[in-house]
Amino acid sequence: HKEIKELQEEIRRLAEEKNAVILAHYYQRPEVQDIAHFVGDSLELSRKASQTDADIIVFCGVRFMCETAKIVNPTKKVLHPNPESGCPMADMIKAEDVLRLREKYPDAEVVAYVNTTAEVKAVSDVCVTSANAIKVVSKLESKRIIFIPDQALGNWVKKHIPDKEFIIWQGFCPPHFEFTAREVLKLKEIYPDAKVAVHPECHPKVIEIADFVGSTSQIINYATTCDSNRVIVITEVGLLHTLKKKNPNKEYIFPQSMNYCGTVYCCTMKAITLPKVYETLLKETNEVVLPEDIIQRARKPIERMLELS
Ligand code: 13P
Ligand code: SF4
Repeated sequence: HKEIKELQEEIRRLAEEKNAVILAHYYQRPEVQDIAHFVGDSLELSRKASQTDADIIVFCGVRFMCETAKIVNPTKKVLHPNPESGCPMADMIKAEDVLRLREKYPDAEVVAYVNTTAEVKAVSDVCVTSANAIKVVSKLESKRIIFIPDQALGNWVKKHIPDKEFIIWQGFCPPHFEFTAREVLKLKEIYPDAKVAVHPECHPKVIEIADFVGSTSQIINYATTCDSNRVIVITEVGLLHTLKKKNPNKEYIFPQSMNYCGTVYCCTMKAITLPKVYETLLKETNEVVLPEDIIQRARKPIERMLELS
């Protein structure tokens, strides 16, 4: 514990010395969340990254989040403490796939979940996050929507906007697809007074059971303030850290998993560790570099999202 505390203090000291801001997603390890100047969902983190006047952004999240920070604030040095930390869902579609879909459906608008590579964003019309997808898509004029890459979020949006036609890419989030309706219903049987909060990356059958569906921040807000003292939380277990901090008086139930950790776990998010953050900031390594034309083209759909939400 002493080592962790010392490392945390040293990272914060370095951040101050170098005028760096540390941003972290809620799925990060608790000890990493604790050194961040700001912890948030994808939308809040991209807003923070676009507004910061720090010289360096240390982004504790997966690659697409770091790329988004670079795209919205390209003059900053964006550092990714572990360049191998990617999002498997983001890698389930390539720019060529999007171009092929565009050719097939020339009248459609391409809606890209932010969980995509910068190259994919560069050939998309608008981005969305789990916090604003319904709002953004409902404001689009096109009757036909190509939704990439998450089938679960795509189906959730489609359900709310029945007057549009959706072509949905069949990508998915491996950790969120681990949750089953059967286990959530079982938990509801054990805790009949509990409310169920679900991330929209979950399978539609799991979403059907939910009392609340939203982004990580929205789930935290709902779970800590709803009228039930027990909440079944169906998303990555990293949320527990903030839930306990924000409202320790409630009980938060996360389903058990068959994997070795016992809970559903995004291993690439957890691939960022305190020593890696320290090394990266100290040596200013692992800089996120993107070609200038990709930055220019990928910025448009992100800015459009920020305007529409
Ligand atoms: P949020 O935008 O809800 O934080 O989700 C990001 C993510 O990767 C969920 O798996
Ligand atoms: Fe990607 Fe899923 Fe991990 Fe989020 S939880 S970063 S969508 S793999």
